[in-house]
Amino acid sequence: MNNPKVIEILETITETTDVKTIKFDFEGDIIPGQFFMIWIPNIDEIPMSVSYIDKKVKGITFKIVGNATKELFNLKVGDKIGIRGPYGNGFSIIGNNILCVAGGTGIAMIAPSVESAKKRNINTTVLLGVKNKNELFFENRIKKTGANLFVSTDDGSYGYKGFVTSLAKDIILNNKFDQILTCGPELMMKKLLEISNNISFQASLERYMKCGFGLCGQCCIGKGLRVCKEGPVFDETTLKKTEDFGVYKRDASGTKIKF
Ligand SMILES: Cc1cc2nc3c(=O)[nH]c(=O)nc-3n(C[C@H](O)[C@H](O)[C@H](O)COP(=O)(O)OP(=O)(O)OC[C@H]3O[C@@H](n4cnc5c(N)ncnc54)[C@H](O)[C@@H]3O)c2cc1C
Ligand code: FES
Repeated sequence: MNNPKVIEILETITETTDVKTIKFDFEGDIIPGQFFMIWIPNIDEIPMSVSYIDKKVKGITFKIVGNATKELFNLKVGDKIGIRGPYGNGFSIIGNNILCVAGGTGIAMIAPSVESAKKRNINTTVLLGVKNKNELFFENRIKKTGANLFVSTDDGSYGYKGFVTSLAKDIILNNKFDQILTCGPELMMKKLLEISNNISFQASLERYMKCGFGLCGQCCIGKGLRVCKEGPVFDETTLKKTEDFGVYKRDASGTKIKF
């Protein structure tokens, strides 16, 4: 599990101008919210959440932000990458009525969580927040699950105009949810926790990762919680006492970077 397995790309799907899905053969069970370390030969090894979970085929969905994701974006069917994992804990879905809130590329890992909840007949409301209509992906995929779907765009080009947290505030006030699951920009998730009305809450965090399985300490938050091992999903009790949540992260050298 900790040595990269070289796999061939089976399928690529262009989701938007800078977001792509790559699918590959990978047999085994994976919990939504878990992630792989993806090795792009000669470039880098980076963490990516699982975005498609079928019995034999898995997928990742990513946005171009730098060298590794740019190179990954340009790969084609038949090209090879290395994968390690799956790592991390994943979401633990509870209750009969849940709210899933995703911002930006957080949509990638929320989608399999929604599919998993709907398969268990859990009433699921999904909020997807993006900057503008062109950045939205997986809308039809989520509609197909039968979940109640709402979209927000910062510029109002589609759906609700404004931040997804403003949309969430109204929806939380007017419904009775057993649980909130979220993935997206950390400031968005922090705001969501503040307005969550003491509903059971799980957020997936991103920190700079090297080993991905708890050895190097690179991804620690709070008092030694390893995001790759104890996370990336943390509940409201842990998040409320983790002083760096929504305040800062660390880069590859360990230097603090404020959100
Ligand atoms: C658990 C986890 C799951 C993730 N899932 C997804 C996903 O499903 N889809 C998606 O688009 N992105 C995901 N990311 C973010 C993704 O790993 C970064 O976008 C990617 O590493 C950027 O690499 P780059 O070389 O293209 O960019 P760079 O220019 O090298 O970096 C751009 C930024 O990406 C982040 N980054 C770079 N390297 C790493 C690293 N080794 N570990 C963590 N962050 C890094 C840093 O914030 C950095 O400032 C996830 C991150 C984590 C920690
Ligand atoms: S990345 Fe090494 S401990 Fe988390």
